[in-house]
Amino acid sequence: MAQLWGGRFTKETDQLVYDFNASISFDQRLYRQDIRGSMAHVRMLAKQGILSEAERDQILAGLEGILEDVEQGTLVISPAYEDIHSFVEANLINRIGEAGKKLHTGRSRNDQVALDMKLYIRDEIKETDVLLRKLLETLLGIMKEHIDTFMPGFTHLQKAQPVTLAHHMGAYFEMFRRDRGRLGDILRRMNTCPLGAGALAGTTYPLDREYTAKLLEFDEPTRNSMDSVSDRDYLIELLSALSTIMMHLSRFSEEVIIWNSNEYRFVEIDDAYSTGSSIMPQKKNPDIAELVRGKTGRVYGALMALLTSMKGIPLAYNKDMQEDKEQTFDAIDTGKACLTLFEGMLSTMKFSKEVMEDSARRGFTNATDAADYLVNHGVPFRDAHGIVGQLVLYCVERNMALDDMSLAKLRSFSPVFGEDIFTAISMKTCVDKRLTLGAPGRAVMEQVIREYEEYLG
Ligand code: ARG
Repeated sequence: MAQLWGGRFTKETDQLVYDFNASISFDQRLYRQDIRGSMAHVRMLAKQGILSEAERDQILAGLEGILEDVEQGTLVISPAYEDIHSFVEANLINRIGEAGKKLHTGRSRNDQVALDMKLYIRDEIKETDVLLRKLLETLLGIMKEHIDTFMPGFTHLQKAQPVTLAHHMGAYFEMFRRDRGRLGDILRRMNTCPLGAGALAGTTYPLDREYTAKLLEFDEPTRNSMDSVSDRDYLIELLSALSTIMMHLSRFSEEVIIWNSNEYRFVEIDDAYSTGSSIMPQKKNPDIAELVRGKTGRVYGALMALLTSMKGIPLAYNKDMQEDKEQTFDAIDTGKACLTLFEGMLSTMKFSKEVMEDSARRGFTNATDAADYLVNHGVPFRDAHGIVGQLVLYCVERNMALDDMSLAKLRSFSPVFGEDIFTAISMKTCVDKRLTLGAPGRAVMEQVIREYEEYLG
């Protein structure tokens, strides 16, 4: 295959070299962006009098034809071209002849690929945001339904104090809301158009960079042509944001796995989101949650790979930068798939209200409240702590919960206990008394839920 740049060469490229150098196997997914960018470029060239209107119209028609044919599958993107840019240009020349040879005027593949990636990433960020939003809607739905579903809150994976399922889900709502914020920040910062930077030093043609930036819905053109062709910061930022999303999904997955385990049984994952064992008939495994947890590693890997690829690159474009694509594409595909699957698993999952509440009750999550009860009746906190500690020991030895004890028995530990102790240490009281903003008490939880509803609009 003749190369775009064949003029200076007297020998064919070695096949292994050709294959090693080529990027079409993975950059072909940029064909829409590549064609869109070329159309804007050509419109600008004609506006500036660099191309005639007739040439512009011929090129636009040719590019539109290529786009249609690729979408319909009548034109297959062939690995015989080095990259998607060569494929489109060569096809254009085949279709429309001489005018097609003028497409690349005032442009380099360096600013072209920088543009294609930015166009692609912009759309992918928006799609990822839609998925995050859907997950937030599902979380909010669970929150609204479970304001009174009591469960143990944990520290060190030891039952600590009672919370509600709404409160626990709210923690994830906060995480994924921050993730959306991060994506929005990246989008705002990256939205500058590199087209017109040429190979590295701009061009000698009178390009109107503001015009192409506007046509392609960028805020403005970039301000330094060397940086324009060698900036991959926004990809690193995106991989970092995706890594954080994956970290959140992975923590959530870990909890789902624990909650779905035979010992906990807080939740049951729907059959549609579980898998069986080929040998053990009783098994219903949480494979989706495990896969999401596992795939977190490859997204972190992509971030580390690109950071490392970029660290020693002198200005401006160097071929190392072609390595940005496979890792970024894979991380985005992985992140989007995980968000989709996780949301599906979560929205079909059954929560066992009774098991959760019983676990909180039997786990002495109301021990702090029992001590507070004594303190409110004049017992110094350190003594109250000691008394409730003895109560807990007594119950543990007999496999009971604090509120399974009779009043007479409670009084044998401290005469201060009265009939109202049972209300004071009920899960409902323990939770509803926690009324500081951000706590699980019903009144503040309802307020926070209203704010989340407003946020989602
Ligand atoms: N395939 C290249 C990349 O992904 C496109 C830019 C090529 N530029 C060049 N000077 N060889 O980075």
